[in-house]
Amino acid sequence: MAVASPSGSPLTLGSNAGAGRRHSLRGTVRVPGDKSISHRALLFGAIAEGETCIEGLLPAEDPLSTAACLRAMGVSISPIQAGAAVLVQGVGLDGLQEPEDVLDCGNSGTTMRLMLGLLAGRSGRHFVLNGDASLRRRPMARVGQPLATMGALIHGRAGANFAPLAIEGHQLHGGVIGTPVASAQVKSALLLAALTASGSTTVIEPARSRDHSERMLRAFGASLEVGGDMGRMICLYPGSSLRGLTVVVPGDISSAAFWLVAAAITPGAEITVENVGLNPTRTGILEVLEQMEVQLEVLNPRDVAGEPVGDLRVSHGPLKAFEIGGDLIPRLVDEIPILAVAACCAEGVSCIRDAEELRVKETDRLAVMARQLGAMGADLEETADGMVIQGGRPLHGAELDSETDHRVAMSLAVAAQVAGSASRLHRSEAAAVSYPGFWEDLARLQLDPSGPAG
Ligand code: S3P
Repeated sequence: MAVASPSGSPLTLGSNAGAGRRHSLRGTVRVPGDKSISHRALLFGAIAEGETCIEGLLPAEDPLSTAACLRAMGVSISPIQAGAAVLVQGVGLDGLQEPEDVLDCGNSGTTMRLMLGLLAGRSGRHFVLNGDASLRRRPMARVGQPLATMGALIHGRAGANFAPLAIEGHQLHGGVIGTPVASAQVKSALLLAALTASGSTTVIEPARSRDHSERMLRAFGASLEVGGDMGRMICLYPGSSLRGLTVVVPGDISSAAFWLVAAAITPGAEITVENVGLNPTRTGILEVLEQMEVQLEVLNPRDVAGEPVGDLRVSHGPLKAFEIGGDLIPRLVDEIPILAVAACCAEGVSCIRDAEELRVKETDRLAVMARQLGAMGADLEETADGMVIQGGRPLHGAELDSETDHRVAMSLAVAAQVAGSASRLHRSEAAAVSYPGFWEDLARLQLDPSGPAG
């Protein structure tokens, strides 16, 4: 089984299948820290009073982009390394300095969108945000437009929709703002802006998105209320400063999802993923796996620093098709690429609807997954807002490409695991955006000596 550290050349996956001996996947894995919580811990710690200690911060490219931007504005952050707690010396709500250079958000939409909210209210300071080719194509007006109703001045191409974006910081005012999409990035940007706006700000979402910002802001001492139908309305009152604290980051359920599906579809597999964040605004994937009749157990459910956490054990078995859409989509938005892989291995027709947001992620994930799984022989049809996938047609190995998208890279690795012949995956290094140790974890689960080679 050729699983090596990616070095820029294509990675060979699933090659053992042709040799007549299939590796299964067995063992225990601890996924790295939650990406959303990691960004927020750095950002809120930076504008708190005093020191914030972050345990379990995700040491991947996206949070490193957030940390680099904050350091460029005078925030002291200790080195970010796997296994080491990260210390952030807060500069207070309005203490960020004007950076001398462009702030580079890399590939990270969360960095750019949350920075827009954080920086728009910094009076008398100018900021320019930029990112890689993928980020420069992603829509930013979904944040800029609601921020403009609070008085923000943001300039850029196509009506400030595309980076590079220039921010002329000045005092903002609160208001009642309906967001155009159920996006935690948009909501969080508005809440960051609201911290120093004059008057209160109420954000109303069309459907509830992940609520890590609300939980963590409250823990840092912000004054906010969550109400309305299913918590879609958040009201933040300015005036309270944030106080540094200790944040414990649970494992990312979006990274765990690759192993949950890998175990469910690979004959003979059983994987336990430890320390997974189980915030109910993120657990849509578990509901879908239940719909598919996956053998899944939640072990040791517990509460860690305000977020529910547990260990998840999944083993292989026959799978039923699923249908997803509506308000469930924001609760599993990052898991749709790997769910498309699961659908290929299920009995019956799976249907993904209302997922047009996937077209504006790191890549157009509906088009990319349809193209890549199609190359492996999957029977699927891409629709305007989703996919229809006829399960049960065996996948074969192919020349695959992540098209630079981390979640596509890892989803294709899982698909290649069950393909009848070897695949070559180009641009596998994209996984480092959210899961730098993914390839090593895959190799370890394949090589586990207790695993049967069935
Ligand atoms: C994120 C929210 C989601 C998700 C992204 C991280 C966050 O995006 O896709 O990976 O940390 O707020 P949207 O909120 O824009 O859907």
